[in-house]
Amino acid sequence: MSKSEENKTRNLTSKDFGDNFIWGVSTAAYQIEGSHNKNGKSASIWDDFSSKKGTIYQDQDGTIACDFYERYKEDILLMKSMHITNFRFSISWTRILPNGVGEVNKEGVGFYNNVINFCLECGITPWVTLYHWDLPQILEDKGGWANREIVSWFSEFATVCATSFGDRVKNWMVLNEPMVFTGAGYFLGVHAPGKKGLKYFLPAVHHAVLCQAKGGRILRELVENATIGTTFSCSQITPHSSKKRDLVAAKKADAMLNRLFIEPSLGLGYPIEDVSVLKRIEKYCKPEDKEDSIFEFDFIGVQNYTREIVKHSHFVPYLKAKIIKASNRNVKITQMDWEVYPPSIYKMLKKFDAYPGVKSVIVTENGAAFNDVVVNEGVYDEDRTAYLQDYIKEVKRAKEKGVNVNGYFVWTFTDNFEWAEGYYPRFGLVHVDFETQKRSIKKSGHWYSKLIKPLKKEK
Ligand code: NOJ
Repeated sequence: MSKSEENKTRNLTSKDFGDNFIWGVSTAAYQIEGSHNKNGKSASIWDDFSSKKGTIYQDQDGTIACDFYERYKEDILLMKSMHITNFRFSISWTRILPNGVGEVNKEGVGFYNNVINFCLECGITPWVTLYHWDLPQILEDKGGWANREIVSWFSEFATVCATSFGDRVKNWMVLNEPMVFTGAGYFLGVHAPGKKGLKYFLPAVHHAVLCQAKGGRILRELVENATIGTTFSCSQITPHSSKKRDLVAAKKADAMLNRLFIEPSLGLGYPIEDVSVLKRIEKYCKPEDKEDSIFEFDFIGVQNYTREIVKHSHFVPYLKAKIIKASNRNVKITQMDWEVYPPSIYKMLKKFDAYPGVKSVIVTENGAAFNDVVVNEGVYDEDRTAYLQDYIKEVKRAKEKGVNVNGYFVWTFTDNFEWAEGYYPRFGLVHVDFETQKRSIKKSGHWYSKLIKPLKKEK
């Protein structure tokens, strides 16, 4: 390690975050597990969507992914060796309820019991996300998130998870990034289930809001001493210019990308004053829904990667706002074409923490995809290491400024299946050779491990 690198690492120590700060890594079932049809698992919308030609980069899919289903012990031991003490993962709905509702698949429940028990044996705390995008296809065939019945389907799923795992799992997240699964899946059609248009998107948004609160209530009732959160994608929004119409466009983008799901949960309703088309959600509402959308979460999961520059555009229906691609802006970008912009995470932590009613915030995802290469069995990912250092410094700044931020999870542990982009974006602290499934800790992984390693108590 060079002198300047050492200084950089030295500037940041876990001491600055306090003894109780939670350090971890995040994953999701479909992105890592593979074994897509083993031991009673049925197809989710991602199994179905990725089996269609032209939906995913190079027609790849998650049938094998990182083979976590077979290799969970190896991976959890690797985490342990890296001093990782908190592991966020999601439950595949179709593994435990192959018909979406009804009969419980014992082998599916058994798999998660094994993962949870092994984590605990290794001194790793499990953090479970109920829904990370893999809806049972059988429920999608009945309309999926656009069908109000999802509230009862999801309640059943949440109940099975809470009663099966709640004796050992105390940290829960209800939904992962509802804006992404409704926006990309039911408006743009670029994620599963590939539906396009407002007639799918608006009911999906409303039903996700209802499930977000209902899931929270179910966990509160069934899990003793639970810490319950839900997670949101978010990006700092910067207007392209100070012209009025760009400022208006930026406000609309902020309402859609950052406010749409948190505000109803706090009793503030949908941000219709900024995005008038959201008024049409009323069509899907019952009188009790406003009240039923509210839940007092113990924490909000902030998931930030980048910022967006937004300008006015006539051509974008409803919003009249357009994101300017980072690759057209001459800035440092990741493989996802996302600008590297550390102050964004600071702004987002401040923004979510500032809502009255938000008790605490945790960074449940942050990380970067770069085109890593293996050299002599090592991966010297300077870009990712610098990215993590710079973003974590901004988390520290937020903490110092009084934001009640209590944890940070890197996205992600191993390279994995990045949805429509397939396997080329590599986000992991650990490199995966997808031909052999060999794992190699990257430089960023070694750096993170060093950062979070418990400090020896001073005498
Ligand atoms: C958001 C999602 O929760 C996760 O599934 C995805 O892989 C990462 N961010 C990176 O895009």
